[in-house]
Amino acid sequence: MSVGRENWGSRFGFIMAAAGSAIGLGNVWRFPYITGTNGGGAFLLIYLGIIVAFGVSLALAEMVVGRTAQRNPVGAFRALGGARWAGVGFLGVFTGFAILSFYIVVAGWTLAYIVQSLRGGLHSTDPKVLEAAFGAFVSDPVAPIVYAGLFIGLTAWIVVGGIARGIERWNKILMPALFVILLVLVARALTLPGAAQGLSFYLVPDFSKVSTRTFYDAISQVFFSLSIGMGTLLTYGSYLSKQENLPSAALTVVLLDTCAAVLAGLMILPAVFAFGFNPSAGPGLTFITLPAVFASMPFGAVFSVLFFTLLAIAALTSAVSILEPMVAYFVDEHGLDRRRTVIVAACVCFLLGVPASLSFGLWNGFTLFGKTWFDLMDFLSNNLLLPIGGLLTALFVGWAWAQPAAHHLSNEGKLHQPWSPLWLFVLRYVAPLGILWILLSSLLK
Ligand code: TRP
Repeated sequence: MSVGRENWGSRFGFIMAAAGSAIGLGNVWRFPYITGTNGGGAFLLIYLGIIVAFGVSLALAEMVVGRTAQRNPVGAFRALGGARWAGVGFLGVFTGFAILSFYIVVAGWTLAYIVQSLRGGLHSTDPKVLEAAFGAFVSDPVAPIVYAGLFIGLTAWIVVGGIARGIERWNKILMPALFVILLVLVARALTLPGAAQGLSFYLVPDFSKVSTRTFYDAISQVFFSLSIGMGTLLTYGSYLSKQENLPSAALTVVLLDTCAAVLAGLMILPAVFAFGFNPSAGPGLTFITLPAVFASMPFGAVFSVLFFTLLAIAALTSAVSILEPMVAYFVDEHGLDRRRTVIVAACVCFLLGVPASLSFGLWNGFTLFGKTWFDLMDFLSNNLLLPIGGLLTALFVGWAWAQPAAHHLSNEGKLHQPWSPLWLFVLRYVAPLGILWILLSSLLK
């Protein structure tokens, strides 16, 4: 079945593609505002702790399942664990639709902000003006939907193009560029007058702000940011040859992603305090804070265009990695035509994205369980589906498939991996118990 399946061109290409998947809106848009609403420093510490405790292990678990099976999530779990594990793959396919429905909306905002910066709009350091401009844009019933449509269209175009010549080639150029721009902006943000207060908010933990909720948000942010829990890394791993050293690749990807998130926090949070924004402003935080930073620096308009372009691209490489697993499923398992599958899946995502966009305007009043459609999709995927997907993956690799997993991880014994019992221990106990504890305690509250 794996005959004729595409592969990555190189190990570097795979790492860049996986990092491109991991680094996206989750780092630059979601991480700073979630940190802001959770009180800053203590959240950062818990976030990093969870990555070390089981984030890395889970990323590795997904990759080894994918590489061994050389299949999409459903096919991989079925091939390695039998029919009853295939459900984990289905869950992932479903999760992909939920994530894309709100992801394309925010990604659409980045496209709109490119256009805005090109036109020289947004030139203000006044929080009121920037908040109003953001609010007016996202609550518009047409423009943000058009941008979301444009974005999913671009995503579909790349996914139709395939792995090595589409996804891989672009990531290799654009990820390094993103890091350079991030560093420049961090330098500007840190030298703003009044930045120190933001820095201490971000780096000095205040444990009085910690609750179960903090852990819950940190776990879901780890899953979202590292792209674990829905079969993305599994699918990317399935395009990898069996000679690669997986653990070092996984570690590199996790490190790059974590650096990007920490840097994004250093870029946004000092500026929040310097200009007097509210750190718990929610999803708009990045979009109202950064324009103020740009307006306060020389050549701000140029940086603004560059930054939102790179952010849009980071979002694109992530969106591609959310769409790819579902497409791989329909193509591998049902023999459907790749191009047609991509078009249909993209249309479904777009239709789900429309109410998500309208959540900020026209349909603001329609709520389910007290949440708008946008919040509901975000909550459902990040706080429930991804952790559950990660939990089941850990149980599968840690218990049902442990011996083969260690064997395949070491490339059939060729690599020396004295720590692999620790890895299995994490997948058996640490990850499942940690995730379960958080899920239950937040549901029972
Ligand atoms: N990690 C990406 C981001 O930070 C989003 C993403 C891509 C993702 N693929 C995923 C999230 C798979 C969860 C699962 O923006």
